[in-house]
Order: sequence, then structure tokens, then C-alpha cells
Amino acid sequence: MTTPQLPPWPEQLPACGPVVLRRFRDEDRDMVREMSADPYIPLIGTLPRDASDGEAQAYIDRQRGRLAEGTGFSFAIADAAAGRAVGGIGLWLTQLRHGRADAGYSVAPGARGHGFATAALRALTAFAWTIPELHRVELYIKPWNTGSVRTAERAGYAFEGLLRSHQEIGGQRRDMRLYSAVRDDSWTGSRPDGDERSKRIRAERPS
Ligand SMILES: CC(C)(COP(=O)(O)OP(=O)(O)OC[C@H]1O[C@@H](n2cnc3c(N)ncnc32)[C@H](O)[C@@H]1OP(=O)(O)O)[C@@H](O)C(=O)NCCC(=O)NCCS
Repeated sequence: MTTPQLPPWPEQLPACGPVVLRRFRDEDRDMVREMSADPYIPLIGTLPRDASDGEAQAYIDRQRGRLAEGTGFSFAIADAAAGRAVGGIGLWLTQLRHGRADAGYSVAPGARGHGFATAALRALTAFAWTIPELHRVELYIKPWNTGSVRTAERAGYAFEGLLRSHQEIGGQRRDMRLYSAVRDDSWTGSRPDGDERSKRIRAERPS
């Protein structure tokens, strides 16, 4: 089986609601440093904890090299109105020859709770379907990670099951919840009952 060539960087940047997905820029360093102070984000990628300016720049440089090295698309999630980066999201394509990708996302702590992750995942998934060889996008989410589970559900991903002892994170074997969106199934970028459910959760949340 031959490995398909990765598509070029999109001329029309993926966008949805309040976000646009763009290349990382040098000026995103402060946002990257903020992400590096999060207790979880440094455990799931290559960003060192409490990154220095130089380490944040090196992280940005690595993201800008992901397509050329064949790993996939690493986008900064930017506030569409202000252009300011609020996080990062990746579409990883090392399994493209099998028609599969996986995605990962993080939002800087100060920008959470505004729907940025959900909008970014919708934009990324719509972009994924512009790649003809791609039929399935997967998310691997730790069972305790309610924010990420909700993001996946709100963006129309379906829960497929619990993968026991799936990977090592922070020196320990971890179970993962597997979510997917599949081309041609019912993916519409939202749960069929998403808005109603969301209203209910908000109503139930203590203020
Ligand atoms: C998970 C994460 C990306 C969510 O980003 P965000 O921009 O705040 O998410 P959104 O605003 O789009 O919220 C999506 C849904 O999750 C809910 N949510 C977000 N954080 C939550 C939390 N900590 N607890 C409970 N629900 C949460 C929101 O209320 C929303 O649901 P609703 O629309 O039904 O009300 C962010 O918390 C993060 O970067 N965490 C650390 C990195 C990480 O866990 N990445 C995912 C790895 S799988």
C-alpha cells in the first residue's frame, strides 16, 4: 500500500464560528507559554512544562514543520475577530494510507469556556473531509477529561468504547475513550440533541 502524499496547506483557512485555524506565528509565544503552565498539556505533547521563551519558540517552529515532515497539520486556533491565538489543534495523518487520522486540541487556560475548542474541532473535521483519502477521524480522550469529552460530543463525534491501558501518560498506563467522526455517516458538526443537552447541563450547573 503506498502512502498518499499529504495535501498542501489549505489556501482557504478552516474556520467555524469564532475561530479560524491558521499557522503558528512567532507572536503566539506568550499563548504557548501559558499552555505550558497547564498541568495536563505538557503531558500530551512536546511542549515542556513552564516553557521558557526559547522553548516556546522551538515548539512553534516544530508545529510549522509538521506538514513538511509528513506528520500532519498543526494549526493555531485563533480568535477570528482579533487574530490572537487561543490554542492549538492538530490533524495527524501518519495513518492516511488507511484512510484514518487522529486529532488533538488544547486551549490556553485563560481562553477556555468560550466554545473555542468545539468550533476548532468542527472546523478541523470539515477540513478533514476535503482530503479525499480520509474517511475517519479519531479522538483519544482520558475518561476523567470531561471538558474534552464534551468538546468531542458537541462537535458531533461518536463514542465507540473504552480502550483499556491504551497508552502511557505521565509515566502511567492509561485507559482512553475512543471517539470518531466518519465521512458519509451522520457527522454534521453537532450532536443531534446537542443544543438541548447543552442547555440542560448549563441549567444543572451550580452558578
Ligand atoms: C478540553 C479543552 C480543549 C476545552 O476547551 P474549551 O475551549 O474550554 O471548550 P469549549 O468552550 O468549546 O467547551 C466545550 C464543552 O465542554 C464543556 N467544558 C469545557 N471544559 C469543561 C470542564 N473543565 N468541565 C466540564 N465541562 C467542560 C463546555 O461547557 C462545553 O459544553 P457545553 O457546550 O455542552 O456547555 C480545554 O479545557 C483544554 O485545553 N484542556 C487541556 C488539554 C486537553 O485536555 N486537551 C484534550 C486532550 S484529549
